[in-house]
Amino acid sequence: MRGVAEKEIEPLEEAPEVAPRKRRAFTSTVGRGKSIVREEAPATSLHKDELVQVHYGDSLNFYKEWDRPACIVSDGAYGVLGFEGDTSDHTGMPEWYDRHVERWSKAATPQTTLWFWNSEIGWAAVHPILEKHGWRYVNANIWDKGIGHIAGNVNTTKIRRFPVVSEVCVQYVFEARVHGKLLKHWLLEEWKRTGLPVRTANTACGVADAAVRKYLDQGHLWYWMPVAMFEKLVAYANEHGKHEGRPYFSVDGRTPMSGAEWAKTRTNFNCPHGVTNVWQRNAVRGAERIKTHGTSGKAVHLNQKPLDLMSRIIEAATKEGEAIWEPFGGLFTGCVAARRLGRRAFGAETDGTYFHYGVERLISEASQHPLL
Ligand SMILES: C[S@@+](CC[C@H](N)C(=O)[O-])C[C@H]1O[C@@H](n2cnc3c(N)ncnc32)[C@H](O)[C@@H]1O
Repeated sequence: MRGVAEKEIEPLEEAPEVAPRKRRAFTSTVGRGKSIVREEAPATSLHKDELVQVHYGDSLNFYKEWDRPACIVSDGAYGVLGFEGDTSDHTGMPEWYDRHVERWSKAATPQTTLWFWNSEIGWAAVHPILEKHGWRYVNANIWDKGIGHIAGNVNTTKIRRFPVVSEVCVQYVFEARVHGKLLKHWLLEEWKRTGLPVRTANTACGVADAAVRKYLDQGHLWYWMPVAMFEKLVAYANEHGKHEGRPYFSVDGRTPMSGAEWAKTRTNFNCPHGVTNVWQRNAVRGAERIKTHGTSGKAVHLNQKPLDLMSRIIEAATKEGEAIWEPFGGLFTGCVAARRLGRRAFGAETDGTYFHYGVERLISEASQHPLL
């Protein structure tokens, strides 16, 4: 079973070294509009503290060193048609992301959530790549930056569309499979192997009809069975099912899957009260922005994400002590959020200027928020 039976997880160390990518004119807008450039190389290529480990360089080269992620926060290339005549577009994005997504899938387990930040068209372009590598779409969250984001700067007669003040942050989970089968297919097939009528699953679970209508449904009504129900179903099948087919609901062919193992077939998720999929929150500005030193301090990274939104998604999908990946670090907002929440964070950044200021931010963070 992918990710559930420990021994069947492919070791990360076996992943091949990544060859340098041949230069191609990607359409990403990442790095455009840089406000400052440091000439000096960063003083270090690796920064570590008790919870955070960030590298200077291409994340493709570091995935193999990182612990398996409970959550990946992707905030990489955007294909934004920001204005008429803008040369950037989304067409190169599937190729840009493909090797990253492939490597995320190698490290993921059924308990891994992926948060994919992007423009709507960027996400649409990359969605097939995510599905191809085993990621199942859950929900699209809209970050609404509000009217202040355009502040009279847009000529709609010229751009001939509504001004864009949003980004998406899309939730994916890494789909659990047993012997290559989706859970819902495996559950029904195992039940059928017992030789018991399908309706008996209701008796097994002690429910009126939820087992047949939901837990064994093969369409959109299917949902993940609570652990207690799974345990009842498995116990009944192994007690009343045909002798010759036992054990039922087993991954290794020797013992049935336990409730604790079943619990690991899905991701963690907790939604704070009152939070919906529309996040009204202005873009990062003012004191929140990381700036260069001195009186005329300039914003270092134009794509710096709000710390509160990063905290929200990490807290919702992970528990304390779990590992978070931030492969496109920028100023490492995800790592900062993870650290404050007691999660362990791994990140990378290819740009020396951003890496330098990102590390400074992490060092200052550690002194202001020491671990208890
Ligand atoms: C949209 S920005 C991320 C901003 C970040 N979320 C923050 O709040 O500061 C994407 C960053 O990814 C970096 N990047 C692009 N490709 C990368 C790669 N293969 N490995 C590591 N960093 C990469 C870019 O230099 C850029 O700073």
